[in-house]
Amino acid sequence: MTDFETFLAETLPPLGLAPAALIRRNIRRRIMRRMESVGIHDFSSYLQFLRRNPSEWDVLRPLFTVTISRFFRNRRVFETLASQVLSPLAAKGNPVCAWSSGCASGEEAFTLRILWEELPGKKPDLSIVATDIDEECLKRAGEGLYPESSLREVPGEISDRYFGREGGRYRLREEVVRSVAFRRHDLLCESPPGDFDLVLCRNAAFTYFTVPRRIAIVEAIAEALAPGGCLVLGRTEKLPREAAAWFFRVCPPHNIFRRLSPVAAVRG
Ligand SMILES: C[S@@+](CC[C@H](N)C(=O)[O-])C[C@H]1O[C@@H](n2cnc3c(N)ncnc32)[C@H](O)[C@@H]1O
Repeated sequence: MTDFETFLAETLPPLGLAPAALIRRNIRRRIMRRMESVGIHDFSSYLQFLRRNPSEWDVLRPLFTVTISRFFRNRRVFETLASQVLSPLAAKGNPVCAWSSGCASGEEAFTLRILWEELPGKKPDLSIVATDIDEECLKRAGEGLYPESSLREVPGEISDRYFGREGGRYRLREEVVRSVAFRRHDLLCESPPGDFDLVLCRNAAFTYFTVPRRIAIVEAIAEALAPGGCLVLGRTEKLPREAAAWFFRVCPPHNIFRRLSPVAAVRG
């Protein structure tokens, strides 16, 4: 094992992270930058530094995290979500609660708001809570200012209606920015921040976390979902086998799952 592999083998399990998913070259570079800033030049000395300074784990953890997102990411899923989930929820007329977990800089939560606004007719209230562990990301979400690359899947007419040019970037309409409640939340150790009709958990827990953590998270989400509520995963992600009986896929091949029955009843 290389010095770096040994370092990963010791640091990833306590953080609940699965090594396979990590983009190692980037992460290695980030960690080496951190090591330099504290005057350390090899991974085994940095391991000793972590043992002596437990607060250093809080600095290390974000270095393993990927925070890339964009509006309408994998656009087909959002089209299906609008027609198969949001539209029927709106037709019921009851207030709707949604959670975008691992929301990065808010792109996914704002996409949800835009889809809701675009539904025809009278709609009940939709409240959206969006959470992430990364405070910098949450701050950017509150600013509502994005590079062009964040809008590359946004349909042209939506982009014209909801974004204005500002220098080389795009500013999202203020009322959309204000319509989402952002807060810090750690998926690995905190319960879902409420009860929901819809949870988006895409390209975070089910890619980067270990299998036991994924199972704990899907179980907590299932319990926080109203009967018949929906969970959306990322395009290449899978529900843990242990949770398969709690959900059915709304519209294959998309990763939109509807909660079947109370989790406790399924578990027996
Ligand atoms: C690749 S982004 C995904 C963003 C968005 N869901 C999407 O699919 O476009 C992953 C996000 O998960 C967040 N994250 C990583 N670990 C987390 C944790 N333990 N709790 C909450 N969020 C976490 C990261 O900060 C990052 O913003």
